[in-house]
Amino acid sequence: MKKSKTSFFCQHCGYMSPKWLGKCPSCNGWNCFAEELVVESDSSSRSEMKFDGKPLPIEDIPAEEGERIVTGITEIDRVLGGGIVGGSAILVGGEPGIGKSTLLLQMMHRLAEKGLKVLYVSGEESAQQIKLRSNRIGASSKDLLVLVEISLERILEQIKAVDPAIVVIDSIQTVYSADLMSAPGSVGQVREASSRLILFSKKHGIPVFLIGHVTKDGSIAGPKVLEHMVDTVLYFEGDSGHAYRIIRSMKNRFGPANEIGVFEMQDKGLKEVPNPSAFFLAERPQNVAGSVVVPSLEGTRPILVEIQALVSVTNLGMPRRTAIGVDHNRVSLLVAVLDKICGLHLSGSDIFINVAGGIRVEEPAVDLGIVAAMASSFLDRPIDSHTVVLGEVGLTGEVRAISQMEVRIKEAARLGFKRCLVPRTSATKSAKIAKIEICTIGSLKELLENIF
Ligand code: TYD
Ligand code: MG
Repeated sequence: MKKSKTSFFCQHCGYMSPKWLGKCPSCNGWNCFAEELVVESDSSSRSEMKFDGKPLPIEDIPAEEGERIVTGITEIDRVLGGGIVGGSAILVGGEPGIGKSTLLLQMMHRLAEKGLKVLYVSGEESAQQIKLRSNRIGASSKDLLVLVEISLERILEQIKAVDPAIVVIDSIQTVYSADLMSAPGSVGQVREASSRLILFSKKHGIPVFLIGHVTKDGSIAGPKVLEHMVDTVLYFEGDSGHAYRIIRSMKNRFGPANEIGVFEMQDKGLKEVPNPSAFFLAERPQNVAGSVVVPSLEGTRPILVEIQALVSVTNLGMPRRTAIGVDHNRVSLLVAVLDKICGLHLSGSDIFINVAGGIRVEEPAVDLGIVAAMASSFLDRPIDSHTVVLGEVGLTGEVRAISQMEVRIKEAARLGFKRCLVPRTSATKSAKIAKIEICTIGSLKELLENIF
């Protein structure tokens, strides 16, 4: 006999409370608790998951990582930190239509071609639809098994029966467990299904990919509540209106975080972009005001991105500040610094900042690029198109040191840039290495003197 009880869950973040609350203590959302029936399952469904663990001295635990499964798609292998680790759980998130199913099917096809038995479980599309997609991307193999199923118990049964090398669940929001009464896609179901799949994969050493949808505002229950449960979190960036797709590892227990892979969506599926810097700079306008290139570091890889700014006189009482691809607060701060320290009075202007190519750059090294682009647009003076800038900007207008100068400058030199403005404090030996002129600056005033 199953014992059942109800609990209240925050529909935004999954916080559980035994009684109803008006405000969520975890995410501070208001009126977001809903009652869900929690059926505590009898031990049978859980007992199979148990590990028969005993405490071991840490020095006796074998240290080898085990063989990684290499997919052969280099962009993905890099994002995963060098391949798929046995027994790991990988969450692949992104907006609907961005290419999650396509990428996973392509990966599974590659692995099946190598002779690994892989299982692709779909609760979203019929077997025919998957077949049509696989025809499109040229995926066909007897080792690529497709299962259309949404019941967690039956999925686990099938995984046990088939014993695949890798499992893909497309998507975790469609999977439901009969142990819970709430609907598929609710926080409770998503968490229950994932935790059981993850335990299963850990116990049997089978890596599992969980696909999860996130909407633009991130409001849907799902991937966010799973991030702490899985080993690796990959998110798709960019939007489905453009051809490029960027996959970023937000978290990785088995490799560097923040690593990115760049793909282009073509009519035959996703294609790797081996030289992303050239790709992001492909449509860069020459010698126009408001555009500058910054060598940003994404994970371990330097990538040149173009930062664009448009500063135009406003007739609104409150000028607009729009930032796409960079942090909005960072932009407000830099506007204030430019105003106060450099005497560029931007308070009467609307300001729009955009990172071309749809990539997001979070690191402070792009500060100087944002400032340079804004100043260039405001003064209507173009920055020489063979110049790159990099550095963090402090509140007193000082330009601060950043990490890994050398790789960044090398990448700029490789793409034919001739001059690099860098913080004085991190003036490096790089000048000798690369065929590029290094110009050191200590403050924003010096930036404005040297940039045009
Ligand atoms: P899909 O993988 O179904 O997205 P998700 O699983 O993230 O919801 O990708 C769907 C989009 O990709 C769809 O708009 C069509 C496009 N697409 C191509 O442009 N070329 C292709 O070869 C494929 C398979 C899809
Ligand atoms: Mg899909």
